[in-house]
Amino acid sequence: MSSRDSSRARPLRSAEWFGTTDKNGFMYRSWMRNQGIPDHEFQGKPIIGICNTWSELTPCNHHFRKLAEHVKKGVLEAGGYPVEFPVFSNGESNLRPTAMFTRNLASMDVEEAIRGNPIDAVVLLVGCDKTTPALLMGAASCDVPTIVVSGGPMLNGKHQGKDIGSGTVVWQLSEDVKAGKISLHDFMAAEAGMSRSAGTCNTMGTASTMASMAEALGTSLPHNAAIPAVDSRRYVLAHLSGMRIVEMVEEGMDLSKVLTREAFENAIRVNAAIGGSTNAVIHLKAIAGRMGVELDLEDWTRVGHGTPTLVDLQPSGRFLMEDFYYAGGLPAVMRRLGEAGRLPNPDALTVNGQSLWENVREAPIYNDEVVRTLDNPLCADGSMSILRGNLAPNGAVLKPSAATPALMTHRGQAVVFEDFDDYKARIDDPELDVTADSILVMKNCGPRGYHGMAEVGNMGLPSKILAQGVTDMVRISDARMSGTAYGTVVLHVAPESAAGGPLAAVRHGDWIELDCQSGRLHLEVSDEEIAARLAERDPTEASRLIASQGGYRQLYIERVLQADEGCDFDFLVGCRGAKVPRHSH
Ligand code: FES
Ligand code: MG
Repeated sequence: MSSRDSSRARPLRSAEWFGTTDKNGFMYRSWMRNQGIPDHEFQGKPIIGICNTWSELTPCNHHFRKLAEHVKKGVLEAGGYPVEFPVFSNGESNLRPTAMFTRNLASMDVEEAIRGNPIDAVVLLVGCDKTTPALLMGAASCDVPTIVVSGGPMLNGKHQGKDIGSGTVVWQLSEDVKAGKISLHDFMAAEAGMSRSAGTCNTMGTASTMASMAEALGTSLPHNAAIPAVDSRRYVLAHLSGMRIVEMVEEGMDLSKVLTREAFENAIRVNAAIGGSTNAVIHLKAIAGRMGVELDLEDWTRVGHGTPTLVDLQPSGRFLMEDFYYAGGLPAVMRRLGEAGRLPNPDALTVNGQSLWENVREAPIYNDEVVRTLDNPLCADGSMSILRGNLAPNGAVLKPSAATPALMTHRGQAVVFEDFDDYKARIDDPELDVTADSILVMKNCGPRGYHGMAEVGNMGLPSKILAQGVTDMVRISDARMSGTAYGTVVLHVAPESAAGGPLAAVRHGDWIELDCQSGRLHLEVSDEEIAARLAERDPTEASRLIASQGGYRQLYIERVLQADEGCDFDFLVGCRGAKVPRHSH
C-alpha cells in the first residue's frame, strides 16, 4: 500500500476491476491494455471518466474532443488516469421533435455508464442546452465525485457591423421579415454571422443559463459559465478541472456534498440575477430530484423574490456572453449579490473545496453596464413569476425580465389553437379573430402532448397584429420556450392539456386573467363548466396515443412527469448510488 492509498478517504471503486490478481483482474486489465496502457497506470491510480457529449450533430459541442484532451492533461499531471467515453448527445438545434425528448434518455446512459464502469469520478463535458442537465442528472443518481466543464459560448455574432445574438436575432428578424421591415436577403445574410465560432449560444439562453447554474451550484470551477469556447483560458479551466477531480477522489468529495438544498437556493437567486432561462426551472427540479433534494415551484418565488436582474444580456437586455466574460463573468455577479447580503448560502461548498463566497468575494468587476449595480438593475425583480389558478392548478411560469411590464397584469379573450400545427395553419389568416388585447392560447405542447414539450411557447404574433406595430401579446401554453426568446409568455402550464389539465377546456372567446404580481392565472369559466368541457373529451384518446407509439416514445409518454415535477421519468427520480455491480463473467 502506498502512502497515497493510506491517505485516501476510501478505497477506489476502480480497484474492484483492476486491483486483483485473479481471473477477473486479468480480464479487466488485459483488454484495457490493448490501448497501450503500461503496468503502472493500473497501480491504484484514480480512474477519471471524461463523459463526453461530443458530436458533429451537436454543433455547439463539436470542439469537445479538444476540450477532453486538456482535461486529460490535468488528470495525468495530478496522478490520475483519464478514460474518455461518449454518451448520448442532445443537440438543441438539430434534434426533433425537441432535444428535451431525449434528456432523460441521455441521463440514463450517463448513470449506467458511470455505475457499470471502472470509474472513480467523472468530469462532465457539457454545452448545448440539454446536455448539462442530462449529465448532472445521471451523475447525481450515482453520487461519485463530479466536476462540470462547459464548452463555453460562441463569440459575439456579427451582422452589418452590429453584434447579433444566437437565437434572439432569429426571433427578431423573422418577425421583421413578416412585418415587411427587412428583406429576405438581409434575413439570410444574418445566418452566417450569427454562428461564427465554436461554442454554445452566446445569449443568456438555456445553455449559458445552465452553465451559470452549474457554476452557482458549485459543481464547476469559477468562470466556467462565461469564458468563450475559443478563448485559451477555457482550455486552462479544463486542465485545472482535470487536476482537481483527482484531488476530489482522494478527499472522497462526492457530488452530494456540493448539490445540497443550499446550493439550489443559491442557483435560484443567481438565475434571477442573470435573467436566466425558464428551462432552468424544469432542469433544476430534475437534478434536485435525482439528488434527493426537495425543491418546489414556490421556492422560485420564496428564494428568488425581489432579486434584481443585474446582467444586461440578450434576450432580456443588450449584451452577449463574450461581453459578460470580459466584464467579470459570473463571479462578478455573485460578488455583487453577496456584498448586498443577497447570496442565500455563501458558505455552500464548491468543487474546488472552497465556499462559494470564498471563490467570489474578491472577483474583479470591469464593466457596470454589462454587470449592473444593484441600484441600477435591468429589472428590479427578475425572479421567475410562478403562476397558479384554475387554469394551472399545478403551476405555470413566466420570465419577467423578458416580458412587457404592462402586459404582466392583463385580462383578455382567448384565441385558441388546438396544437402547434393548428397554430401554424391559422396564425397568419387575415380572418383570424384577434386583437392586440387577445391572449393566444395553445394546447397539446406539454411533455406528453408534444412528446418532449417543445420550445414553441413563444408563438410568433399574427401578421395582422405585427403590421399594426404591436411587438408583444400575452401567450399561454403547456410548452416551453427557448432561453433565447422573449415576450409576455406563460409557459409550463401544469397539468398539460394532453394529461387532462384545464388548459384543454379553454375555448375561443373565454376571458382569461393574468396577474404576475399576485401569481394568478384564472380562466373566467365556472368549475362546473370546465369539468363538463373536459368530460366531453374522449377518455380513450390518451391510451390510444400511448399504445400507438412503441419504442422509447412509448416509455416517454407513459412515464414522464409534468413540468412542475421536472419532466423526469417517475422511475428515475432519486439517487441509486455507485455500488459496484456483480462481475460480468
Ligand atoms: Fe446549442 Fe443553443 S443550440 S447552445
Ligand atoms: Mg435553446
